[in-house]
Amino acid sequence: MKTLVLFYSYSGKTRKLAEELAKKENAEIIEVKEKNKRSKFNAYVFGSIAAVQRKQAEIMPINCDFSQYGKIIVLVPIWAGRPAPAMNNIINALPAGKEVELIFTSGSGNSKGSAEKTKGLVEARGCKVVKYSDIRAV
Ligand SMILES: Cc1cc2nc3c(=O)[nH]c(=O)nc-3n(C[C@H](O)[C@H](O)[C@H](O)COP(=O)(O)O)c2cc1C
Repeated sequence: MKTLVLFYSYSGKTRKLAEELAKKENAEIIEVKEKNKRSKFNAYVFGSIAAVQRKQAEIMPINCDFSQYGKIIVLVPIWAGRPAPAMNNIINALPAGKEVELIFTSGSGNSKGSAEKTKGLVEARGCKVVKYSDIRAV
């Protein structure tokens, strides 16, 4: 079965990694986009609060037939120690029975404080987290 790379990026670093990974894995790639591009103020204040509260973002519909993919690689930046809000939309869209690889980018390269909770939310969807990694994006 095919692999899907599904990502959200605010300032482009996660997009670059996602594109490189999709090429390497010969995978299809889908970008999750917010309906309105956030200002920096909005991202750091409201986006960070939403990330901490694990709230979903207002995103464009994810048009994807997930049934054709066996593995989904999700890449999202860390905001205020948690995955950016779009991650919560992604989790909500995950169909049961998939292998999911999670890759988080951040300035520190460390999302340990939120890792277990994030993995648990993905597994609560009936998916198996096969790999979790942190990348310090510069
Ligand atoms: C609103 C906001 C909050 C952030 N919070 C953190 C943080 O708590 N810890 C950290 O290491 N990096 C933090 N960062 C840095 C980003 O996680 C990092 O630069 C990321 O790789 C950016 O990915 P992107 O370019 O795809 O948006 C934050 C960035 C933004 C915009």
